[in-house]
Amino acid sequence: MPLLQAGVFSLLLASTATATKDDLIHVNPLIGSTNGGNVFAGASLPYGLAKPVADVDGQNTGGFSTDGSNVTGFSQMHDSGTGGNPSMGQFPLFPQYCAGNVVDNCKFPKTARATPYKMASVDAKPGYFALELEGGVRAEMTASRRAALYRFTFPEGKTANGEVFDPLISLDLTDLWDSRQNATVSVDPEAGRIEGNGTFLPSFGAGYYQAFFCADFVGAKVRDSGIWVNDRAGSEPKELFVTRGFNNFYLQAGGYMSFERPDDGVVTARVGVSFVSTDQACSNAEKEISDPLNDFGKLQQTAEDEWSEKLSPIKVTSGGASNDMLEAFWSGIYRTMLSPQDMTGENPLWQSDEPYFDSFYCLWDGFRSQHPFLTILDPQAESRMVRSLLDTFKHVGWLPDCRMSLCKGWTQGGSNADVVLADGYVKNLTGIDWELAYNAMVNDAENEPLEWSDEGRGGLQSWKRLNYIPYLDFDYLGFGTNSRSISRTLEYAYNDYSLSIVAKGIGKQDHTKYLSRAGNWQNLFKEDQTSFLGNGTDTGFTGFFQPKYLNGTWGFQDPIACSPLATFCSLTTNPSETFESSIWEYLFYVPHDIAKLIKFVGGSDEFVARLDYFHESGLADIGNEPVFLTVYEYHYAGRPGLSARRAHSYIPSSFNATNGGLPGNDDSGAMGSFLAWSMIGLFPNPGQNVYLINPPFFEAVEITHPETKQTATIRNVNFDKSYKNIYIQSAKLNGKPYTKSWIGHEFFTEGMMLELTLGDKESKWATSKEDLPPSLSDGIAQDEMQLA
Ligand SMILES: *[C@@H]1O[C@H](CO)[C@@H](O)[C@H](O)[C@H]1NC(C)=O
Ligand SMILES: *[C@@H]1O[C@H](CO)[C@@H](O)[C@H](O)[C@H]1NC(C)=O
Ligand SMILES: *[C@@H]1O[C@H](CO)[C@@H](O)[C@H](O)[C@H]1NC(C)=O
Ligand SMILES: *[C@@H]1O[C@H](CO)[C@@H](O)[C@H](O)[C@H]1NC(C)=O
Ligand SMILES: *[C@@H]1O[C@H](CO)[C@@H](O)[C@H](O)[C@H]1NC(C)=O
Ligand SMILES: *[C@@H]1O[C@H](CO)[C@@H](O)[C@H](O)[C@H]1NC(C)=O
Ligand SMILES: *[C@@H]1O[C@H](CO)[C@@H](O)[C@H](O)[C@H]1NC(C)=O
Repeated sequence: MPLLQAGVFSLLLASTATATKDDLIHVNPLIGSTNGGNVFAGASLPYGLAKPVADVDGQNTGGFSTDGSNVTGFSQMHDSGTGGNPSMGQFPLFPQYCAGNVVDNCKFPKTARATPYKMASVDAKPGYFALELEGGVRAEMTASRRAALYRFTFPEGKTANGEVFDPLISLDLTDLWDSRQNATVSVDPEAGRIEGNGTFLPSFGAGYYQAFFCADFVGAKVRDSGIWVNDRAGSEPKELFVTRGFNNFYLQAGGYMSFERPDDGVVTARVGVSFVSTDQACSNAEKEISDPLNDFGKLQQTAEDEWSEKLSPIKVTSGGASNDMLEAFWSGIYRTMLSPQDMTGENPLWQSDEPYFDSFYCLWDGFRSQHPFLTILDPQAESRMVRSLLDTFKHVGWLPDCRMSLCKGWTQGGSNADVVLADGYVKNLTGIDWELAYNAMVNDAENEPLEWSDEGRGGLQSWKRLNYIPYLDFDYLGFGTNSRSISRTLEYAYNDYSLSIVAKGIGKQDHTKYLSRAGNWQNLFKEDQTSFLGNGTDTGFTGFFQPKYLNGTWGFQDPIACSPLATFCSLTTNPSETFESSIWEYLFYVPHDIAKLIKFVGGSDEFVARLDYFHESGLADIGNEPVFLTVYEYHYAGRPGLSARRAHSYIPSSFNATNGGLPGNDDSGAMGSFLAWSMIGLFPNPGQNVYLINPPFFEAVEITHPETKQTATIRNVNFDKSYKNIYIQSAKLNGKPYTKSWIGHEFFTEGMMLELTLGDKESKWATSKEDLPPSLSDGIAQDEMQLA
């Protein structure tokens, strides 16, 4: 390792560096707050459970949206970027003045109280969120790990009779999508406290869960308090239990407190949350926010410090790239650490000393680039997440594929936790019991659960006997949606590949069995399958995956079905043989053997032509995760320059710094991580020790590995902020010529220096066979690969 040289380079960099010391100023939590991004725009610590924000009645999957809809309250728990029903949002507070200070004039039910907010008043930054409601109440919020702190500032105002208005805050025993089954509230005016609990449904999963809260109101003298039901309220009694009655009837109800308006108009509310008990919700609040009247600034500062610390491994030399580019980049990174949420100590389901993370929502989205991203940026956290997945396997019996609010989420395709584990394994994630990981993966590969809608895999008898998942499978061992035979075959093949890597690494004989199953994708490739557009135009390509019956006869699914040119396909909408993606898109899903796939479709030129057609015809769904790797697969055909060109065709046109700047659900930061990797200039093929090399969108990016403390640098020579020079002409690694189009994780752990010389035309760089990223059929087992 030429240490001296690295030293010289960093001196050079330092002299041209324009990056600010604190890149937090570039984080804009509102990116993706409308147009279906569904991001959580409020206050949170990294991986924090408490996530206060304003909830609206429009696009409220993540609570808040800038879609012009109205505010229905302020609640303390959310998920980010998800695509199921709106997640959590329990026990919203709503501040208001009531006509004549008469409690029956207050607006209690959700639709009655929904109030416009002033768009210009919205202020969102890491650890802080604020806005002003029409009528003048300003709400500011910040968060500790398991508690939210609100400051509601009530304007001066008098009733028609000239009385000073009493600020009133109601609490609703509901969540964002009114999934509450039953709930309890109790109001204690002496203590200024409202506490309670409720049973709710997960937003994309099975079963139900209990949530607990403890709200303390300080800084204002309590005037009146009680409970409300529908649009009526009373100061007696102080407790209420609501449940679902006849016809699943939903009753709107909760508690309230009104106050003498203090001189500064501020009523402070501290709300602790817990999934264990009300007592724990109270103690979480008391421990984390001991002085609610004075802690606001301190909490906000702590949040900023924690976020700064999390972002600190990355340094950017912008080279004149726009602020919008910087904003899209840093905000994408920020969102990768909103979820999964660290709920250690808040899991009532089992006793364990292991960490517990929740909101893996879903791994089908997160395995592709989010978890690999956390592996470079925050390997300690990623290791704790993997341990949590394994502990879940230990106590629940299965690795989750999707998990939210302590419940099993719906499985979308394969058992993709397997890929997260293999990725951690090949990248030397520390602190993990790999024997346990192996057992968990074997369980996915060998044992079919009775209910495979939310764990494991279905169709395993056929998988083992026929080596594919049949169309209309005869599967009497388990129950699940009997669809997605093509996408499940492709994903199961990659899952088995992942298992084979870990098995081989820890010396298990059965690794060859799984390596052989990793080839099962080939069994659904129909050589003579053609594809036509809706208007009858021949796409001109032959050879696609197709469904196959149990008896070996081909079925048929139009290759363009389920693409943006046809009808969307999900588990419940138009279930098909591919999930949320077309046969066209799934064609490219053989991450471990793209070399063989290229042979199947007729060679590199044909493969490139297909990728181009796919991305340019409207068939590619840039708004959903399966598309990610396809942007970079040109590398495997010896055309890395076309990957760079493709990335620039989507960034910033589909990913940018506007409030609607995401092409689809952010999915807990999956989209954010795609953007971050793309702009850094490396893209992971998850589960493999492979990053595909592209020019960064900035002059240089440095990443210091949090454990080895080594700094990896990727730097453009001839960087051009107008992005005409996006083609690598030549490269140097640690000062020596480097001809491969990919690099391994050692780049990060050992802190290497990659210099890319750019030009405005494709070049011969990394186009020879030996320079292509590895594929299984090249005969090299990927865990044995070494850097040149
Ligand atoms: C928001 O509330 C206002 C006032 O109640 C109402 O006029 C408006 O239609 C609502 N907006 C939406 C998007 O529902
Ligand atoms: C609340 O609802 C859950 C889920 O339906 C149920 O199991 C529980 O018994 C209910 N609790 C009460 C007190 O009714
Ligand atoms: C919810 O609170 C009520 C009232 O304190 C209590 O009786 C009930 O047991 C609590 N429910 C749970 C699940 O703790
Ligand atoms: C993982 O650790 C082994 C043993 O220390 C080392 O040989 C290998 O290069 C490491 N791999 C990566 C990707 O850092
Ligand atoms: C069919 O649609 C494609 C893609 O929109 C278009 O390029 C082509 O001209 C159309 N062909 C006919 C015959 O309309
Ligand atoms: C195989 O099964 C399919 C679906 O039941 C049927 O349409 C087809 O004719 C069968 N093929 C043979 C060779 O029996
Ligand atoms: C930003 O991204 C969104 C979502 O993909 C897209 O609709 C919009 O056109 C883009 N805006 C710009 C200015 O590129």
